[in-house]
Parts: sequence; C-alpha cells; structure tokens
Amino acid sequence: MAGLIERYREHLPFADGDPVVSLEEGSTPLVEAPRLSRRVGARVWLKLEGANPTGSFKDRGMTCAVSAAVREGAEAVICASTGNTAASAAAYAARAGLRGAVIVPEGRIATGKLAQALMHGARVVALRGTFDEALTLVRRLVDRHPIALVNSVNAFRLEGQKTAAFEVLEELGGLDALCIPVGNAGNVTAYWKGFREADHAPRLFGFQAEGAAPLVHGAPVQAPDTVATAIRIGNPARWEEAMDAFTSSRGAVRAVSDAQILDAYRFLAAEEGVFCEPASAASVAGLLAHGAGEAESVACVLTGHGLKDPQMALDQAAAVVPCEPDLSAVERAVLG
Ligand code: F0G
Repeated sequence: MAGLIERYREHLPFADGDPVVSLEEGSTPLVEAPRLSRRVGARVWLKLEGANPTGSFKDRGMTCAVSAAVREGAEAVICASTGNTAASAAAYAARAGLRGAVIVPEGRIATGKLAQALMHGARVVALRGTFDEALTLVRRLVDRHPIALVNSVNAFRLEGQKTAAFEVLEELGGLDALCIPVGNAGNVTAYWKGFREADHAPRLFGFQAEGAAPLVHGAPVQAPDTVATAIRIGNPARWEEAMDAFTSSRGAVRAVSDAQILDAYRFLAAEEGVFCEPASAASVAGLLAHGAGEAESVACVLTGHGLKDPQMALDQAAAVVPCEPDLSAVERAVLG
C-alpha cells in the first residue's frame, strides 16, 4: 500500500520528484460498529487511526511536514506535544535522518508515547509546565534557530491530515456527521478542509474533555485537566479555524466528562473489540451523550491506539486471575 503523499499527491503540495518521507501511513480501517449503532439509533463507523505506523493520526500530518522540512533543507525538527505528535515526529525524523527534539509536559504523557519518542532517538524534554506553555516556547525557539516546527501550526500537517476525510468519503460515498475529539484543534480543521475540497459537508461534532474545554467555554483554560492527557490543552492553536468548521458545517463543540470518556473507552474495547486511547474515546462519549443531530450515518474518529497508554488500561480493566499450575486450579480460574 502506498503512503498518503503517493496516494493523494494531486491534492497535496508535493511535486513528482520531491523528497518523500513515509512509513506508508494512512489507508486506515473504517469499521462499522453494530453495538454502538444500536445504542445511538444511526449507522456508526469507527475510523481506526491507531492503525497508522506510530499508532495515531499524527503520521498523516507528519509525512507531509517532515517531507517538506527535508525539501527545505532542514536538519532538525521540533514540536511541543502531549505525546502522539512527539512519537510521530521522532519516528519520521529518524526515517529522514534528521535530528528530532520534543517538548512534553512532565508527568502528563502516556508511557507508550514516551517510549516511542525515546526509542526513535529524539531528545525528549520534560517541561515543568503545560502543553500550551511548551507550544509557546517552541514557537519562540524556532524564531531563533533553523529548526522546522512540526506542530499543527505547520500548514503541511493539516494538508496530510485532511486525507482522512477523503478516505471516509471514498469508502462511504457520503456521510451525515463526523464526531472527533478536539485538543489543539488541528485535526478538526484538517477534516473540514478535506471535506470542503471533496465538496461534501457533513456536520462536524467536536468533543473536548470537561476540564479542558476552552472552545466550549469560549475562553482559554489556565490549568486544563483530564484523564485524556492527549487533549489536556487550554488554548488551542487552531481556535478560529475550528470554530469556523463547527459553525459552517452546522455542527457543534461540546464537553464530555472524564467518566463519560472512560465509559466509552471501556465500551469500545469490550463491546466492539476496538482498543483506543482515552482521548480518542471522547468522540464516542460525545456521540453517546449529545447525539449527532438527525444524522443517519456517523463516523467517529478514533485518533490513537489503546496501547499508547497501557497504565490507563490496567487501571480501568478487571484484575488478572492468579493461578497455581494444576488442572483443578486452572478449571476454577477459567470457569469460576
Ligand atoms: N486524539 C489524540 C489521541 C491526540 O493525540 C490529539 C492531539 C487529539 C486527539 C486532538 O487533536 O490537537 O488536532 O485537536 N494530540 C497532540 C499531541 C496535541 O501533541 O500529540 P488536535
């Protein structure tokens, strides 16, 4: 399967012969969710972005951002991140032979993401501050040093991420509504760009965690907090564009509680066989809590894989059953 620059080159700002840094991202599964559909009273599909090479949708944007950085002669890339952008930037930097640095909020990044960024050889800086502070600082840093910024303030990121909208439309033909978690608001902005370019306008419903819901409140949140660390963001960089997407598509942005997020997280794993990370489950939590207007067909974007955050899974799931190595003990353990 081709990577997405190859698959969608005519819709992307890359000419034949431009350098392409790819891990064959994109072309992710869109699976129907029968139990969720029954609960919601509509046909619901799950876009499994955790199936990307580093386990999140960030790879779509990163193939474009890092390919463009190579084209421009950059030697290093940097980002602020709640974890997934860091993992993806580190992987694509390694692939391209560039140096990578990532700045993450100390103690607030899931274990899998940290392991990825370190294994790919990025310099991982743990900031004693929030994601919002980290982003402000890297933006100032790249003004002073020749390092490519690969956060979603980089337009190439959105170009890559818009391809997910193309894929959904290619598979379903059309769509009434899309549910999506919102953090820094780059992804919803990218989907809206993709839908408009493909001449479709499903209603976009964005969901933020209650403790980190600046777009819902209409004001930045100084100390954002949620179990969904990926979207623990108080001042989204793509604020205006995201609000325009919600308004123009006749959608909405709403909040979901941590309890609702974790309910949806467990439900998807146990009832649909789909393991996503907590932030991703916000899309389904929102659909269950608020609905999606009168939509008959709905796609929920599951932005990252559940294995990103093994500690959260172990905290939320049943305990393992200890057992002695003899048959009757095993019988009791298995059947009891
Ligand atoms: N879901 C996951 C799993 C994420 O990692 C993010 C963002 C989002 C949803 C929200 O997307 O920011 O485009 O609105 N993660 C960024 C990061 C902030 O640093 O990995 P958004």
